[in-house]
Amino acid sequence: MANTARNGQTWHAMMAAPAHDEMARQMFVQSMFKMVEDDLVPATRKLWTASAEPRFKQAKGRAAQDANEVRKALMQEPYVQTWSSIRRTLKEMQYDAVGPMVERQLPALIDRARALRDSSRKLGSLTLHPDVAVPRYMAEVDIHAKPGSFHTDLTEDDVFAGAEFDRTFYIIYNGAMGPLGEDMGASVAAWTRANHPNLQPRRILDIGCTVGHGTLGWVDAFPDAEVYAIDTGAPCLHYAHARAETLGRKVHFSLQDGEHTKFPDGYFDIVTSHILLHELPRPAIKAIFAESHRLLCKGGLMLHQDGSNYHALPPIDGFFSDWYTHYNNEPFQSGAHTLDKMGTAAAAGFDKAKTFEAFAPSQRPGAKSSYYMVGAQR
Ligand SMILES: C[S@@+](CC[C@H](N)C(=O)[O-])C[C@H]1O[C@@H](n2cnc3c(N)ncnc32)[C@H](O)[C@@H]1O
Repeated sequence: MANTARNGQTWHAMMAAPAHDEMARQMFVQSMFKMVEDDLVPATRKLWTASAEPRFKQAKGRAAQDANEVRKALMQEPYVQTWSSIRRTLKEMQYDAVGPMVERQLPALIDRARALRDSSRKLGSLTLHPDVAVPRYMAEVDIHAKPGSFHTDLTEDDVFAGAEFDRTFYIIYNGAMGPLGEDMGASVAAWTRANHPNLQPRRILDIGCTVGHGTLGWVDAFPDAEVYAIDTGAPCLHYAHARAETLGRKVHFSLQDGEHTKFPDGYFDIVTSHILLHELPRPAIKAIFAESHRLLCKGGLMLHQDGSNYHALPPIDGFFSDWYTHYNNEPFQSGAHTLDKMGTAAAAGFDKAKTFEAFAPSQRPGAKSSYYMVGAQR
C-alpha cells in the first residue's frame, strides 16, 4: 500500500526500505543539497555582478559572451570553488547513502519484481529484446556520477540501478518532481490536453523512461491510452515494470534504443521524453527526432522535455546550467543545450512551421515552475 510516510516520497512495495541510520544519511544529503541549491549557488549571482563581472569587463574591455567565459572567470573564486566541490561531493554521497541500502535488500527486491513480472494478473508487460545494445555514449560514462550508470547489471534480473535511482532522484530534487517523480510527465500531459484538446491519444511512447517517473504522469492523464516506455538500461526496466505494477499502473516497458525502435511506422499519437536529450550526443538527438517522426501518425505530437537552451539565457544562467557538463559527468549537456532543436526537428522530417518550443506549467500544487520542451506536430 503506497503512503507518504518517508520524507514525502510515495512509498511502494518495490522500494528498498531504509533503516534508521540509512534514513538519517539520506536526509542529511537531501538537506545539504537543499542548502547548496537554495543558498550557496544563488549567492554566486551577487558575487558575479558585484565583483567578478566588473573585473572581467576591465580585463577584456567587454562583457562576457557565453557560459564558458563566465565559468572560467567564476571558477577562480574560492567561494565558487567551495560550493562546486561540496555539490560534486554530495552528488557522489547520494549514491553512497542509497546504494548500500538497496544492496542489502537486493535479493528480496529481485524476487518481488520477478513475481510481478510472472504474475498472470499483471496489468502491463516487460519485454527485453536480447539484440538491443547499450549505446556507447551511455556505456562509457557513469552518467551524473551514478556508479554503473543506468544499464549495469551484476546479477540475473537485477533491479539495483532502478531501485537506487528511484530514491536518489527524490533526494536530489528534494521532492520537487512530485511524490512519485511524476510531475514532468503530468505537466507535459496537462499542457497537451490544454493545447491540443482534440487529440485523443490511443498510444503514447516515453523514450528513456528509466524507472517510469515521467511515464506514470502520462498514464494518469490519459487513462484510455496505451502507454509504452522504452530504455536501454535493463535493470531500470525490471524495476520500472515492477514499480508500475505495484502502484496499479499499466505500462508496456521494453528494452529498446530510441534511435531505432522496433515499433511500426505511425504507431503512436504522442512520442515524448523527459530529461533525456541532455544526456545524448547530437547525432543521437537527431536520430531520436527522426525516429519520433517515423513513429508518429498524422497529427501526432513529438514532445521532448528537458532544460532550455543556453542561448536563450543570460551567460550567468548558462554557467549554472552548464556546471553539470564540466563537474557532474554529463559530457553531452552543453552540446544538447546549444543545439538548434527546432531546426533539428525540421531536418528530421517535420514541417518547420509545425515545430515549436513551449513551457508546460508544473502540476504540483503551489509550484510556480514550468518545464521547457521542444515539439513538433506530424
Ligand atoms: C535522466 S534519465 C531519464 C529520466 C526519466 N525519463 C524519468 O522520468 O525519470 C535518461 C535515461 O535515458 C536512457 N537512454 C539513454 N539513451 C537512450 C536511447 N538511445 N534509447 C533509450 N533510452 C536511452 C538511459 O538509460 C536513462 O535511463
